[in-house]
Amino acid sequence: MKNLLSIEELSAAEIAALVTDAIRLKAERGNHSAQPLAGQTWAMIFTKSSTRTRVSFEVGVRELGGFPMFLSGNDIQLGRGEPIKDTARVLGRMVHGVIIRTFAQQDIIDFAEFSKLPVINALTDDEHPCQILADLLTVQEKLGGWEGKKFAFIGDGFSNMTRSWMWAAKILNFELHVASPKSCQPPAEFIASLDSDMITVSDDPISAVKGADVINTDVWLSMGQEDQKEKEAEFAGYQLESELLSGAAEGHIVLHCLPAYRGKEISEEILEKHADTIFQQAENRLHAQKAVLVALAQAK
Ligand code: CP
Ligand code: NVA
Repeated sequence: MKNLLSIEELSAAEIAALVTDAIRLKAERGNHSAQPLAGQTWAMIFTKSSTRTRVSFEVGVRELGGFPMFLSGNDIQLGRGEPIKDTARVLGRMVHGVIIRTFAQQDIIDFAEFSKLPVINALTDDEHPCQILADLLTVQEKLGGWEGKKFAFIGDGFSNMTRSWMWAAKILNFELHVASPKSCQPPAEFIASLDSDMITVSDDPISAVKGADVINTDVWLSMGQEDQKEKEAEFAGYQLESELLSGAAEGHIVLHCLPAYRGKEISEEILEKHADTIFQQAENRLHAQKAVLVALAQAK
């Protein structure tokens, strides 16, 4: 593994190995003998807001012996229009790896090409692979694995989170039911490109949740869409609340990548009822990303 640009570039074996290593790193936390990033500086270029991703990467790089260098997109020349390929070629001569949160997926692809450094996608408009790895770790811990489990995703059917989940379902071969207003569903070409009969997309949250072991949601308006109030109006009936979840499997878990907007995609009651899982999921960002950093350091 040279980069982590998207979930679909990983094999089932690579995903399973990252989750297994994350479990090891979580158990060993505070007693690491190996420092695979010793002497390395990892730049963190963020052009969107972040709490979990920023903190977990800064802590994770340090715990593995490296130095994280946070670069806000507004503060570096990139924010004034310096091309990605020039920024990438400069950083490629100075740092050892780059973690990027930005809008266009193509920007991180270009960054990896021109910097020749290991690049980690810390969220783009298309994908959020680090979140999916942390979520799978949480499913492993809470339910003993994803094999044979039914997953539901209720909300925006074509956000970075749903796209990454659909790829994960295809690769790992678990059932995923996405329920989303018609206007927020993935285009037919995208569904065709998945070529998987394990994934269904509908506008029926009740059917999607029925018998589900894992019910997942995310904000209705992703970063960069905040002024699309007309989109938000489409989501009536798509809130995770007690009546909708009454059809879920016994022992089901609820996931939310956070930040959460109570009263919109999830009710206060359901968020607090499942807070133990949801905040374990947030903590797992740290362990999953450390596994990614170790894998990239080993590949060098
Ligand atoms: N879930 C997630 O990526 O959170 P942040 O936006 O706070 O990093
Ligand atoms: N879909 C959300 C995820 C936030 C972690 C967004 O892009 O804002």
